[in-house]
Amino acid sequence: MLKKLEDYEKQIQELVIASKDDLENFRLQFLSKKGIIPQLFTAFRDVPNEQKKEFGQKLNELKDLAETKFSELQTELKSSTKKGADDIDLTVPPFPTELGTRHPVNMVRREVVGIFERIGFTVSEGPEIEDDWHNFSALNFPPEHPARDMQDTFFVGKDPDFALRTHTSSVQVRVMENQKPPIRTISPGRVFRNEAISARAHCIFHQIEGLYIDKNVSFADMKDTLLYFAREFYGPETKIRLRPSYFPFTEPSAEMDVYWGLETEADYRITKGTGWLEVLGCGMVDPNVLKSCGIDPEIYSGFAFGMGIERTAMLKYQVKDLRLFFENDKRFLDQFKAAY
Ligand code: DAH
Repeated sequence: MLKKLEDYEKQIQELVIASKDDLENFRLQFLSKKGIIPQLFTAFRDVPNEQKKEFGQKLNELKDLAETKFSELQTELKSSTKKGADDIDLTVPPFPTELGTRHPVNMVRREVVGIFERIGFTVSEGPEIEDDWHNFSALNFPPEHPARDMQDTFFVGKDPDFALRTHTSSVQVRVMENQKPPIRTISPGRVFRNEAISARAHCIFHQIEGLYIDKNVSFADMKDTLLYFAREFYGPETKIRLRPSYFPFTEPSAEMDVYWGLETEADYRITKGTGWLEVLGCGMVDPNVLKSCGIDPEIYSGFAFGMGIERTAMLKYQVKDLRLFFENDKRFLDQFKAAY
């Protein structure tokens, strides 16, 4: 019997609890009416007389111990309710919370859009799945133009009329069909081309398209608008040049270069030794395109331009591999923390 008391004593002393339930179980086991201690008091009656003194003393000690332990555990539980297993709030975010970063593609988009918004351009958007009319025909692409080829375009389903847009110029058409001049709009968006993925090409990328239509808009207006953009984006001293080029939807067409310089070896590499860097395509909207969109080319004229966002971001942030923009590697993205 005495050995039993000692075992209980040890059990109580070593008890640790994690919750209210544990505490209640302890009370039920030892202190409740049918618990171990009241039962021992009942058993006390049958203890042989010569052992009664020692047993009684030990039993009283055990009762005191159990009661003290109970109130100790009660206070402990109260002061640390948050630590109780039942009270853990799994929805509380861990601390400190890490802030995300803007994606470099988004940073460039926001900056370019902001520059044009300051001179009265508004943002317009169009669908990523386009029909042949908005992506090609209305933009003066002849039926046999190679850009319509399977090799360049992702078709959607079996109907050759639907494809993923290959450029944001499709948004120009939608805006001209739905708005009356004057039109000043900038259209950022995602475009798709069937190209092998490499450091310099991807099948998904982003473009920003610009369109300005009004009476008496001239090539000089285009040049000055693009010079303003280049100086806002690349710096106030930036020089530009326009080289003749060809796009089905503009006539005349040009490509704009900015002067990058030839100070470092990298400058030589990026500009192929010329110091000049191509940054966008542009031109006067072809009268055929205006006609297709319901705008009278005898009354109105305008210019358009288009640039690749990833390409621009690669120059601005010295990113050497285009694929980095799409992999969402945190080590890459974290480098832009300070940039916005
Ligand atoms: N759509 C052209 C492309 O995908 C870019 C472009 C060039 C857009 C000239 C224009 C433009 O609006 O005038 O490469």
